Parts: sequence; structure tokens; C-alpha cells
Amino acid sequence: MKIPISRTDLSETEINSVLEPLGTGWLVQGPKVREFEEKWSAFTEARNSIAVTSCTSALHLSLAALGFGSGDEAIVPAFTWISTANVIEHLGGKVVFCDIDLKSFNLDLDQIESKISLNTKAILPVHLFGLPVNMEPVLALAKKHDLWVVEDAACGFGSRFKEKHVGTFGHTGCFSFHPRKAITTGEGGMITTDDDLLAEKLRRLRDHGAAMTDLQRHLGPRPYLLADHPEAGYNHRMTDLQGALGAAQMYRAGDIVAKRQSLARKYDQAFESLGWLRTPLVHHDQEHGYQSYPCLFMPEEIERGNITETNHLRNQWMDHLQKNGISTRPATHAVHLLNFYKEKYQLKPEDFPNAYAADQCSISLPLFHGLTEEEQLYVIDKVLEYKN
Ligand SMILES: Cc1ncc(COP(=O)(O)O)c(C=O)c1O
Repeated sequence: MKIPISRTDLSETEINSVLEPLGTGWLVQGPKVREFEEKWSAFTEARNSIAVTSCTSALHLSLAALGFGSGDEAIVPAFTWISTANVIEHLGGKVVFCDIDLKSFNLDLDQIESKISLNTKAILPVHLFGLPVNMEPVLALAKKHDLWVVEDAACGFGSRFKEKHVGTFGHTGCFSFHPRKAITTGEGGMITTDDDLLAEKLRRLRDHGAAMTDLQRHLGPRPYLLADHPEAGYNHRMTDLQGALGAAQMYRAGDIVAKRQSLARKYDQAFESLGWLRTPLVHHDQEHGYQSYPCLFMPEEIERGNITETNHLRNQWMDHLQKNGISTRPATHAVHLLNFYKEKYQLKPEDFPNAYAADQCSISLPLFHGLTEEEQLYVIDKVLEYKN
């Protein structure tokens, strides 16, 4: 049996949805993107949803629209996908890493305040793998120090903190539609915000700074006149092919989340007595969307400081699973270990010990909504075989 880490699972109707824009010839951002945005707002209860080309461009546009710029500092977890940090670099800012809590893989809330300086302008909490960050202390710190909060909710579809969807707490929330995410448009992203003025600015910036979208112009009284461009924007527009695909999946949004949660529960139950594999821990006020199923390998060895040996054993185990047809991955990477950041900021692994341990000793097991019962039982058997 061959089980990938993730498999795209689109229905025939969803696949066929792209035929409509292909048929009408409206391929760029238009009615289908607008439909997807409306459905996204309905599901997340965000006041505004703005579709873009990726979560990375969502993060970039958010910071740019808020006014983040040269010399400004932003706090990001040291364990996240590299683009959470890259967008700060793209705007001439300084990345300030903060270590994570090894139990949640999310920001260590007790360390954030010590990272705030006179130049700090923003915090980027990451709801990693779909586990919501406890936003209360983050918002309190942001208020106290007058900071922007840009939520990296790349993995946060269906994730809720105290019943409120992630991405709706901060100034903006940023989502990804990369194929490993619960809803996919190939590449793609969404920005959510409750601030109408900010939403307007984001809409302009994604579209070359235009005062009016192509769709508004075509539907308006004088479609033959071009729009003004009050600012120098970017081209971060989603295509209508992607919009159609995204909108089509929103019909079963609730089912997609429920299926992922039920798969996760099966893994939780099967592995609950394994001391050597720590499965995702979820607090009662968090709803996990399970973009993935990240575990910590041999947590007791990590506590004893045996990172190198544990990493060696984890890699051997990943090899073994791969030979048995099961794909796994490290949950994500520690950004301070990656050469650009290591060199530029002169960072050592031990500067963020939990991010380092997570990088070396985490393992994500296959979890995607098309995972069959037979496939999951096979994964469970192979995991239980180890050391038994
Ligand atoms: C936490 C996090 N942030 C940002 C991104 C970037 O998303 P995209 O590939 O849509 O730019 C990812 C992608 O996996 C991610 O996991």
C-alpha cells in the first residue's frame, strides 16, 4: 500500500467548476473570486474576505497595507513555514524570532513580551497545523504596546478559538490554498479583516493599486474607461479558475473539517498510551482544524536534551515507514536554522531550543479527507509495530 502525506480529493462537480470561467472567457479575478470570497466570509464570519495568490502574498499585503516598512520589527515564531518571516524581509523589516511551546508547537506566550522593543510594529501569531493560538494574551499585548496583529492562519481552515474562527481576531488573518491545505485552489490565499477601510486598501493593493476592479468597471456605466491608480500596488490577484474551484469546495466545508477531525480522533485513540509519540494536544476552548497531524517523537528523550540521537532515531523511523509505503514529514522547519536567517541574524540552534527540538524530532502522519479507513488502519498498525 502507498499512502502519501496528503492527496488532493476533488469531486467531479468541483473539477468541472473550472469549466464555467473557461467557457465564459472570464479568467482573471471576477465573479467566481467574488463568490468564493462571499462563501469564505459566510464560513469564517469575517466581515471582509479578499482572495489573493497565496498565503505568502496575503501576509505581505497585510503588512504593506498596515504601513509596515523599513526598520520596523515584527515578532514571529521560530518554528513556522519560512514565508511568515520572509514577508518581513521583503518590506525591509527586521525579523524577531520567538521560541515556541513544545506542547502546542505554537508561540510561547510567556516569551512574547520580552521580544518587544521600541521598533516593534507587529506580531504574527501562527495557528500552526490548525491548532489555534490562545489569542487573548496576544491581543492584550498588542493593545498594550500598540502593535498590529497579522494572523498566519495558512493551516487554520475550520480552526476556532472559543468558537471564533481563526483569522478573525487580529487586524488581518491570512489563509493558504496550497494542495496540502483542507481547501485547495492549487496556489491561492485569502485575507480576512473586519476593518472596512483596511479591506478597501487591501483590494486596491492586490490589483496594481487600482481604484476599481475590472469586474466593477465592466459592470459599471462606462466600462471603456480605465480606472485610476491612487497607489503603486502589486498583482496578487487570484484567477477566476481558482475562484471557481475554491467556491465549489465551500459547499462541503463543514464536512471536510468534520472528516479531518474524525480521522485525528482515530489516531488519538490508537496512540494514546504510546509514551514515545506525543499526539496533538487540544485544550477544551480550541477547535483544531487538523491541516496535518503533527506528533513529537520521544518527548522524554527531548526533555533529557538528547536531540541529536532522537533526530537520528526519528529519521530511521521515517525511512522505515517510507519503505512500508507510508509518507511522513517533519511537521515544518525551524526558520532560524535555515541558512538565510542563520547567516543574516547570526543565530544558533540553541537560541530557540524548542523550535530546534520540534524541527529535529517532530513527525506528521498522513491525514487528508480522502484517507480511507483501510489506509488509516494500515498507518496505525505500522506505527504500533514500532518498539512493540
Ligand atoms: C504556517 C504557514 N505560513 C505560510 C505558508 C505559505 O502559504 P502559501 O504556500 O499559500 O504561500 C504556509 C504554507 O504551508 C504555512 O504552513
